[in-house]
Amino acid sequence: MSKVGDVRRSALVAGTESIDRGRVERLLAGENARFVEERPASVQRLERARRTMPRGVPMAWMDDLYEHPPVWVSRGEGARFSDCDGHEYLDFYIADMSAFCGHAPQPVVEAVAERMRLGNQFLLPSEDAIPLAEHLAQRYGMPKWQFTLSATQANTEVVRIARQATGREVVLVFDGKYHGHLDATLMVLADGHLRPEYLGLATGLEQGTRIVPFNDLDALERALAPGDVALVLAEPALTNAGFVLPERGFHESLRELTASAGTLLAIDETHTLVTAYAGLTGVWGLRPDFLTLGKSIAAGVPLGTYGMSEELAGLLAGPDEPAVVAGAAIGEIATGGTLFANALSLAAGHAALTKVLTEDAFERTAEHGLKLAQGLEAAIERRGLPWSIAHCGAHSYYFFSPKPARDAAQSRVADDPDLRALIRVFMANRGIWESGWWLGPTVSVAHKESDVDRYLSVFADCLAAVHR
Ligand SMILES: Cc1ncc(COP(=O)(O)O)c(C=O)c1O
Repeated sequence: MSKVGDVRRSALVAGTESIDRGRVERLLAGENARFVEERPASVQRLERARRTMPRGVPMAWMDDLYEHPPVWVSRGEGARFSDCDGHEYLDFYIADMSAFCGHAPQPVVEAVAERMRLGNQFLLPSEDAIPLAEHLAQRYGMPKWQFTLSATQANTEVVRIARQATGREVVLVFDGKYHGHLDATLMVLADGHLRPEYLGLATGLEQGTRIVPFNDLDALERALAPGDVALVLAEPALTNAGFVLPERGFHESLRELTASAGTLLAIDETHTLVTAYAGLTGVWGLRPDFLTLGKSIAAGVPLGTYGMSEELAGLLAGPDEPAVVAGAAIGEIATGGTLFANALSLAAGHAALTKVLTEDAFERTAEHGLKLAQGLEAAIERRGLPWSIAHCGAHSYYFFSPKPARDAAQSRVADDPDLRALIRVFMANRGIWESGWWLGPTVSVAHKESDVDRYLSVFADCLAAVHR
């Protein structure tokens, strides 16, 4: 395995047929019961919280993430966090990539404390904005940057700019995507038809969205052919349906096809930025029109950002002839929010990117990530399981199939929700916080080699318990 950009494709046979289903069910029930039993304080907090919050959590989806009830966190430091029952977890989920800097990284703690002391919110630019934008421009190769509070909001603004730039409405995404909770992308393919992904969405949204399988250039070409697509919004590799890597030539063709269709291209590195210093855009030499980032770029302090070309940035100057709506001139693309680009988020982003997410840090995480991927592969081979690993830098994913999936449909077919739930709760009961099913384990800047050893040892114990 090379350190970055490598695709591990172990070609073995079969999937999970050799696993005894009854055994999985029994183990899962036992581990789930143990999890609840050993966490009385979390359970008690959940009961109390149900009186004032839907499902007893500050955001209802927090209750969907795991099979077991949520734990209530008391603190985090480095690669670990603890819950209110006193359990400590070695964190390989890293809050869905947003804690890639590690928990409470010192340079960010100091920058945020100092910024709070000096005031955090002015509705005016603050000192960190210039060096932060300069750093992003130099690092990710896009000349102009804007700041939001989340990657969702960054993608929302990118879509609007793309619509204004092209005079088109449709947004094309790849099956298995997740780019945040923006309407234009909250569609899924079901039996070949577009359907809303959630309840509460306006009807008719499917007119504005197109979805094609990842790695399917013919489908992409067909979907672009009507000439009505404003933007293709894509991760460099899918990270929300397992870890699905692009096939050779995919990104070159994606760039060529979008350019010749007059469609803009946004690369969303919100998750994949953990794989390399300048993301996969840097490693693979991608040439998007927009680049979006979020989550870990400010060590989990709310900050999203998008970079764009000079030409697209020009649209934010406002059109020459404003439209008139209800008697008022509309001279700008719909962007913004009172707290966007606040001084605190910018200070956190500047400190995180320049003092935590350094080139040295990426060298280290790539080494630890390689050790993790190789260790996972060795553990599954030792048990003779025909599974495979996809890996890139700090991030890995284990597929319960002989080869890594080439698109989200294959990834779904290969998945085994009970088995994945069992692995995660088994590991949680032994002090390892494994990722949600869609993601796979990731090392953070704070992880040490011995942390990876510990993960691998518990993972191997779990496989031994499941597969006899
Ligand atoms: C690739 C990608 N883009 C955007 C987002 C949205 O990020 P946020 O929820 O911080 O807005 C996510 C969240 O998982 C993501 O995985």
